[in-house]
Amino acid sequence: MPDTLSIIDNRTGKKYELPIQDGTIRAMDLRQIKTGPDDFGLMTYDPAFMNTANCRSAITYIDGEKGVLLYRGYPIEQLAEDSNYLETSYLILFGELPTASQQQAWTREITLHTMLHENIKKFMEGFQYDAHPMGIFLSTVGALSTFYPDAKQIFDRESRGRQTHRLIAKVPSIAAYAFRHSIGRPYVYPDNDLSFTGNFLNMLFKMTELKYQPNPVLARALDVLFILHADHEQNCSTSAMRLIGSSHVDPYSALAGAAAALYGPLHGGANEAVLRMLGEIGSVKNVPEFIKRVKNGDGNVRLMGFGHRVYKSYDPRAKVIKKIADLVFTVTGKNPLLEIALELERIALQDEYFVSRKLYPNVDFYSGLIYQAMGFPVEMFPVLFAIPRTAGWIAQWEEMLLDSDQKIARPRQIYSGPIQREYIPREKRQ
Ligand code: ACO
Repeated sequence: MPDTLSIIDNRTGKKYELPIQDGTIRAMDLRQIKTGPDDFGLMTYDPAFMNTANCRSAITYIDGEKGVLLYRGYPIEQLAEDSNYLETSYLILFGELPTASQQQAWTREITLHTMLHENIKKFMEGFQYDAHPMGIFLSTVGALSTFYPDAKQIFDRESRGRQTHRLIAKVPSIAAYAFRHSIGRPYVYPDNDLSFTGNFLNMLFKMTELKYQPNPVLARALDVLFILHADHEQNCSTSAMRLIGSSHVDPYSALAGAAAALYGPLHGGANEAVLRMLGEIGSVKNVPEFIKRVKNGDGNVRLMGFGHRVYKSYDPRAKVIKKIADLVFTVTGKNPLLEIALELERIALQDEYFVSRKLYPNVDFYSGLIYQAMGFPVEMFPVLFAIPRTAGWIAQWEEMLLDSDQKIARPRQIYSGPIQREYIPREKRQ
């Protein structure tokens, strides 16, 4: 059987044969299907890109039905067990696990770039005392483009490498400064003796002690959470990164846009929304009533941290996170909201509404509980997501830039407004 799709246009009786490659047809192949010479040609209508592949990508593989997530072919469970965030970010960015010397050089480069320019600090001081740290984060990342004008050389490999080092290294510093600003504490400079996450904890939580000693369990837990969040193929923020980057803007500006997309409650803001939801439910005894409200669609209430566009089974990241939660709680004490979360999950997983719609806990359902137990306010949750996702965003941006199939992204529309009409002078308008 040929790998083609036969289409008969019943409007004209004409028959077309379109090639099928990798389980897709090219949308542009439909353009030849016309009713006459004035017809623009057939398009597809796909709001929210429910069934449209926008790129070829060799970075992340997801099988949503089976709950499989691979970075460059490696299962997320194995990376979470044996890797660390810096190694995983190298894998995501460069396609292979680093050798010992590559890992050493990569770690050194990242460590050398953790400092922020003093003017960036001044820039951040201008935010209101209670500014949301994600607002500070995404604005500051955008502002980096004014400090590194060489970032505009996007087709220069070395320049891309420099911006990659800067971005991976500086996002934790920006995040920590945003946090310290929002709670009125002085900024803490990076400590290059510490690991990536150990230093991040230092910049967040150091007080008057001469040398901050990160708790190894919490530093490791954060490392694993960073691995789990490093990439997730063509989600909303990654698509934003690719789309903005397709205009050939510098990576800082594109990444600010990606971070803005991540900020929304339906995406990276979901773990913040989960915690607010658990707080509102307040007690295990109120869980059945809340589930009822979700099912009735009262005021558009959703069970936050449940459901996913791609996963139609248990999110493999949520499984790993549940294990880490137990580990973190041995250090921090149990988060009192955990009981409510467990009860929500227990009821939802046997309720027809959630089962029939294949709604399972996603990565955000438990991550917020861990972050809160570690001492982060909920406003920091999307920022904690943006730090590791920076690796994925850059890798996807670079892949897009080097892909000869790609051009500036520009979807089509079905126009539904008025047809051409004459301008009405103001005095004649009714
Ligand atoms: N609670 C209750 N009902 C839900 C939920 C939920 N969390 N998620 C989906 N549904 C229902 C929808 O109402 C819809 O029902 P219907 O068929 O009767 O209309 C059905 O399940 C399908 O849902 P869609 O909205 O079509 O699914 P979509 O793929 O568009 O949305 C999304 C995915 C946005 C993640 C959604 O499940 C959601 O809003 N979840 C809560 C927010 C959340 O946790 N987001 C984090 C996602 S993970 C991440 O970004 C890192």
